[in-house]
Amino acid sequence: MGANEAADVRSGDAREAGDAVRRRIAVVAATPDGVIGSGGDLPWRLRRDLQRFKRTTMGGVLVMGRKTFDSIGRPLPGRQTVVITAQPDWSAPGVAVAPGPSEALRQADQLVAPGDSEGGPGLEDDSRRRPVFVVGGATIYQALLLECDELWLTTVHSRISGDVHLSVDRSHWRAVETVRYPASVDDQMPTEFHRLVRR
Ligand SMILES: NC(=O)c1ccc[n+]([C@@H]2O[C@H](COP(=O)([O-])OP(=O)(O)OC[C@H]3O[C@@H](n4cnc5c(N)ncnc54)[C@H](OP(=O)(O)O)[C@@H]3O)[C@@H](O)[C@H]2O)c1
Repeated sequence: MGANEAADVRSGDAREAGDAVRRRIAVVAATPDGVIGSGGDLPWRLRRDLQRFKRTTMGGVLVMGRKTFDSIGRPLPGRQTVVITAQPDWSAPGVAVAPGPSEALRQADQLVAPGDSEGGPGLEDDSRRRPVFVVGGATIYQALLLECDELWLTTVHSRISGDVHLSVDRSHWRAVETVRYPASVDDQMPTEFHRLVRR
């Protein structure tokens, strides 16, 4: 099934259920060898990539695994967060908790930004149109990557080693934008930002 058909099926299901369906975007940074994490953290400091992450995810919903949440340590401001965990008693202030990846997407589709519903008619709909961002780590990408409409992939040109890896099958994706950035005082390594859409 192509991305458009998948999106149609999802919106058909959601229409029957009376839900809003939001665009889903996976955001990943990985080396060509597939390294995405090391020692519970990102193995690099890339200021430009972090700034783009902040700018582009603002107002949306972030879906992440419990370990990625722990590595960030708090809900990121201006965005809503759904944390996936199998621990029934796990909680953290300011985040929604889901017992699995598909439940997380269901919850994310329902979330309305705080304050929007108080702002008057129409604003709730705007809030629900903001994308859901699937932001890792590896276990969550593995479960949800092919549920996403787009993949925003930063290739980090480095041979750095790590203990968390992700392999992206590019045959599922079509590149619509690629931007190259050299290493700089802000970025330890050269990077390429790819915007990919599901085939
Ligand atoms: N480079 C990047 O773009 C990027 C992005 C995000 C994260 N990272 C890095 O990736 C690493 C973390 O990734 P990770 O794969 O080890 O961990 P993760 O995916 O962030 O979290 C794993 C946890 O999520 C929960 N989980 C996952 N699948 C589940 C399921 N089907 N049902 C219920 N709960 C489920 C479990 O939590 P419980 O153990 O609580 O049950 C599991 O231990 C860190 O180094 C982080 O810095 C990199």
